[in-house]
Amino acid sequence: MTATVQSSETTDSLARDALERDSFVTPADKPPQRLFVPGPTDVHPATLAAQNMPMIGHRSDELESLFRKCSEQLQELYHTEARVFTVAASGTGLQEAAVLNAVGGRVVNFVNGAFSQRWHDVSVGCGKEAIAVDAPWCTAVKPELVEEALRAALADGPVDAITVVHNETSTGAASPVDAIAECVRRVSQDTLILVDAVSSFSGVKLPFDEWGLDMLLTSSQKALAVPPGLAFAAVSDRLMERAGTVSNRGWYFDLLQLEKYRQRSTTPATPAISLLRALGVQLDRIFAEGLEARYARHAYCGQMSREWAKANGFGLMAERGYESDTVTTVENSRGLDVGALNRYLGARAMQIADGYGPYKGKAFRIGHMGEVWPSDLECLFGAIEAFAAGTA
Ligand SMILES: Cc1ncc(COP(=O)(O)O)c(C=O)c1O
Repeated sequence: MTATVQSSETTDSLARDALERDSFVTPADKPPQRLFVPGPTDVHPATLAAQNMPMIGHRSDELESLFRKCSEQLQELYHTEARVFTVAASGTGLQEAAVLNAVGGRVVNFVNGAFSQRWHDVSVGCGKEAIAVDAPWCTAVKPELVEEALRAALADGPVDAITVVHNETSTGAASPVDAIAECVRRVSQDTLILVDAVSSFSGVKLPFDEWGLDMLLTSSQKALAVPPGLAFAAVSDRLMERAGTVSNRGWYFDLLQLEKYRQRSTTPATPAISLLRALGVQLDRIFAEGLEARYARHAYCGQMSREWAKANGFGLMAERGYESDTVTTVENSRGLDVGALNRYLGARAMQIADGYGPYKGKAFRIGHMGEVWPSDLECLFGAIEAFAAGTA
């Protein structure tokens, strides 16, 4: 039984518009393989093709104008007037940059899954006094927990920053970053708010300025649907001022140095030129779709996935009310052999992800971000149902 979203709440005009436009996406527009893993995601053929261009000098006018164009579009995507850095690294690199530049003393890392745990490990690895505050996997980090933990940590001295992952890709739980940021500002004016939106940015609206964030980082290979290798971060003036007081910021990820070069639309080290070309094309595609339409499409795909799971006898792993709109973690309530399911899907040029870590075999994850449209999900759901019918 394939479920489509029926509720009037979600079939608003933008979602209907996405469905209509979906029917005009021609097969030639679709990648030959459909990746429903939560990153790397499928890359549109036009974006992929943009990489197949001759090299240019990295101090050339052409590179500078490409860099400037991308930076301006990224600012719009971040809903910010603040600077947006583009680096040749994956998202983990910017987790490291955040800690190296924002934290001279102590940091509180909220941990509710594998990638927030990684940020804690990165903080420890950078030699910082890092306090891990755990929330159960599959739940969201809530402002109440943030307030309690921050007040407790402040009793022992200043806290330079907190880290939180917006969209825990390991579990499919999304944390309310706006409420968390509001709470941190109320409890401690001097504590910077560092947010990882690696698997949600550009699929979900995250208005950097309105929410008063200090760093919002992401990677190219998720909802942005650019090949892996670039990472981006909007960074506040507050954080830049803090960086000036922190020693041992390293070199490659020293934000003060990156800023000097960014102001000239370039980077201190050689940029990933081919990836920047792909980014340039993909950002144009994103703005051609329209940001609000894009957010609505992702919301629709999220709801569609949850409704399909429930309608087909599966549970959902993420805490109710905090489910991600870019990755759905489906509880394997029907005891499917996830490895066999993925081989079956692979034979049909599709792929999903197994449950992460402790949830291997007990859950499976469906990424629905970037270039994934409702009709792609219909196709995937049909194949999973056929597999389940054959093996049940
Ligand atoms: C939420 C989250 N944070 C960080 C990372 C690490 O990003 P990268 O693989 O780009 O270093 C990932 C990767 O999947 C992620 O999902």
